Amino acid sequence: MDKIKKIGVLTSGGDAPGMNAAIRAVVRACAFHEIACAGIYRGYEGMIEGDFIDLNARSVKGIINKGGTFLKSARSNGFRTKEGRQKAYDALKAANIDALVTIGGDGTFTGAMIFNQEFNFPVIGIPGTIDNDIFGTSHTLGYDTTLNTVVDVIDKIRDTASSHNRLFFVEVMGRDVGHIALNVGVGAGAEEILIPEENLGLDRLLDSLRRSKESGKSSSIVVVAEGDKIGKNVFELKDYVEEHLPEYEVRVSVLGHMQRGGSPSCFDRVLASRMGVKAVESLLEGKSNFMVGILSDKIQLTPLEKAIKGQSKINKELIRVSDIMTT
Ligand code: F6P
Repeated sequence: MDKIKKIGVLTSGGDAPGMNAAIRAVVRACAFHEIACAGIYRGYEGMIEGDFIDLNARSVKGIINKGGTFLKSARSNGFRTKEGRQKAYDALKAANIDALVTIGGDGTFTGAMIFNQEFNFPVIGIPGTIDNDIFGTSHTLGYDTTLNTVVDVIDKIRDTASSHNRLFFVEVMGRDVGHIALNVGVGAGAEEILIPEENLGLDRLLDSLRRSKESGKSSSIVVVAEGDKIGKNVFELKDYVEEHLPEYEVRVSVLGHMQRGGSPSCFDRVLASRMGVKAVESLLEGKSNFMVGILSDKIQLTPLEKAIKGQSKINKELIRVSDIMTT
């Protein structure tokens, strides 16, 4: 394989705190190894359109602490087609980009893998999503920041919940997985945590709330992952509980996209820096079609296919700990 001379970097899918820090790490690692780097705007959309910018070590100053992604992010329909991918390949070739670092979630990695198979184009993925739903890494970029953001918000909700003796359902992100809900639930001392992986059932929820009232608690927080499968959305849950437990006054807070914003935590900045360096150095060593992850504090590579197909499992011990904490 010819020596890589220019790496392109993009962010795609839902943004996550730490993406800017990861772009910075990729750019600086390229500068350190004396190869060129180009930023690709709006993920695969910008790749199809050839919307690139040359980046040097100074271009990424002052961004390690910034949320979002200055390269912007998008979900691309064009890249799902062979024609779109051919256009993207032609654009990369025209700009002399000979390898890619793609930062995003499983959709981003699926696109990268197909692109690699079709054009034998070197790619390495960095997992960037607040959901932490990627196999092959204990932490995705942005996850730690989101946990801290959400715990902080629930602490505030608790203040008003206890002033008014209310029960709050707090919906947090997590389309398919309950990592955020489970961890913030334990971290913020929630009464119950509803996650897609475990169907608590409505009866058990009512029992638990009944017991909590009887034990002398005057206010409660129930954390609900948006993908929870209890069979009701969070507003229907509120109605259901008010109907069956009229002693409760219930409110709902859907936290929404604020969970994706904000300055990355120190953990995410360090993780982004380590992953960015590993991604560039892996490409320079001739490796391709891998995702960079962190397992037991070691930066490791997992084949993209495994990262996409594998399941990121919740920590069941946390469910038990939560049950004990709500005694
Ligand atoms: O970033 C992941 C995620 O936050 C999911 O938990 C959520 O369902 C989804 O993104 C919503 O993203 P968007 O509004 O960008 O489609």
